[in-house]
Amino acid sequence: MSVYSASVTAPVNIATLKYWGKRDKELNLPTNSSISVTLSQKDLRTLTTASASSTFKQDELYLNGKLESLESARTQACLGDLRKLRSELESQDDKLEKLSQFKLRIVSENNFPTAAGLASSAAGFAALVYAIAKLYELPQDMSELSKIARKGSGSACRSLFGGFVAWEMGDLENGQDSKAVEVAPVEHWPTLKAAILVVSDDKKDTPSTSGMQATVKTSDLFQHRIKEVVPQRFDEMKQSILNKDFNKFGELTMRDSNSFHAVCLDSYPPIFYLNDTSKKIIKLIHKLNETEGEIIAAYTFDAGPNAVIYYDEANEAKVLGLIHTYFNQVDGWSKADTSKLSKLEIE
Ligand code: PMV
Repeated sequence: MSVYSASVTAPVNIATLKYWGKRDKELNLPTNSSISVTLSQKDLRTLTTASASSTFKQDELYLNGKLESLESARTQACLGDLRKLRSELESQDDKLEKLSQFKLRIVSENNFPTAAGLASSAAGFAALVYAIAKLYELPQDMSELSKIARKGSGSACRSLFGGFVAWEMGDLENGQDSKAVEVAPVEHWPTLKAAILVVSDDKKDTPSTSGMQATVKTSDLFQHRIKEVVPQRFDEMKQSILNKDFNKFGELTMRDSNSFHAVCLDSYPPIFYLNDTSKKIIKLIHKLNETEGEIIAAYTFDAGPNAVIYYDEANEAKVLGLIHTYFNQVDGWSKADTSKLSKLEIE
């Protein structure tokens, strides 16, 4: 009996304009549009193989060698959409194997700590959707597939593109216009680099979904953020990327990270993702930029204490040298790594 399979990798993406807040929890529709940079596959990525066979008894997912449940409504939403698209193809061409009726075996492996605020769910769901779409030979483009990945984890929709990516929130109730689009390919700004400072690889305290729900319900500042701040910042950040204007891009990135953590702190009870080491990194980057007289490095933090620092390759020695000097000895420091941005590639 044949086993059909396809393998892909999907990289982590790090938002420079954060998604925080859902207007529809089931469909993962956001309360604001967001922008991200996709990191290199070499450093942070999920490798997923999806297989289908008439001999498989049930759908199975192995994550980093461990059998995990596929029962979550989010995973089921992705599998359901993909099977539906495949069965539409099968109904148009009866020579096609009825893969949509076979059980799936999905084997996924991350090369970085899972759920430590390093966007593992983004790479994970992007790889899952992409691998099954490849197995099923679906003709849908990345933006179309991004609507499926979005149902798994909102930020996953952005990991289907390399380079600079926007997730347009859309306004339809069914989510058909809430999708990822390319802002610029990685070749557009090849000298932009990212350093990941792994302050802690513990699992995060407040998962993003419950954190977002709490913020939407209880923070007053949140309304100001989504109405007055993000819409304009979205256009400005896109422009700064198109102009390769690091000074502007860096300032907007840092302001948006701070704004996101401010609405977390304004939630009631407050949500804390940054720790003392994170705060020291923030101070150090501001000090560095002040000394240089311009922004040469920009930090951003997701739902965890780990920092991502963006900088131009020309300033690598200065930025990483300084970070190394200060944080080498700090308690809680585990490792620093740099990753060059890259294109999304299929293995
Ligand atoms: O997609 P989720 O549910 O993991 O949420 C991601 C939230 C942030 O990482 C904090 C921001 C973002 O836009 O990626």
